Amino acid sequence: MKKYFLAEFIIFGLMFSFGVMASGGGSNFKALLSKVKEGLLPAKCLFLIVNNGDCGAVQIAKEYGVPCFHISSKTHPDEHEYEKALLKVFEENPIDLLLLAGYMKKIPDSLVEKLPERILNIHPSLLPKYGGKGFWGLNVHRGVLENQEKESGATVHLVSSEIDKGKILAQTSVPVLEGDSPEELAARVLKQEHSLYWNTVLNYAKTLGLL
Ligand code: GRF
Repeated sequence: MKKYFLAEFIIFGLMFSFGVMASGGGSNFKALLSKVKEGLLPAKCLFLIVNNGDCGAVQIAKEYGVPCFHISSKTHPDEHEYEKALLKVFEENPIDLLLLAGYMKKIPDSLVEKLPERILNIHPSLLPKYGGKGFWGLNVHRGVLENQEKESGATVHLVSSEIDKGKILAQTSVPVLEGDSPEELAARVLKQEHSLYWNTVLNYAKTLGLL
């Protein structure tokens, strides 16, 4: 990367905005925020939406001063009200990109339609393998190990109305080692996810002309 990279963005004031949706530990969310903080990702995170008020991502949002909204079937038992509450956040906080980072619920089609080609997701396998219904969390890595794959990896893709089926933007692979447990493989993949996500977001923002 060129040394005067950040300076260029500051001089021309080029920056994009994003929101994140997460449900878990939030390590991908944290990796994105730390690249913003380091000045490598010229962007501002406007909000985090979680569907689990106790998840680790909430704490990370606090640490980095990112406003956090908890919207779930607990806060909004009626599906229509849930969807309305979600869309309200996007109306009140317009963003260039929405980044899903371990969000464990399918996002409503109304949201996909509102942000066409502007929603990205990270998945811990080499899609189209080990994607779609049922392939979440350790199930992904169990599938890889059961089939004795030699490699696995992570994928960043656009979000469409079908789970894990949108256009693939980037992938990175890791070896599957003899005797790996699902947890060990997951940890190896997760480490790669942290650099894959922000790099892909940066390149995609450039492709869209946001930078
Ligand atoms: C990651 O493995 C990601 O690929 C998947 O969910 C997990 C989230 O992990 N979609 P974290 O919460 O970012 O640590």
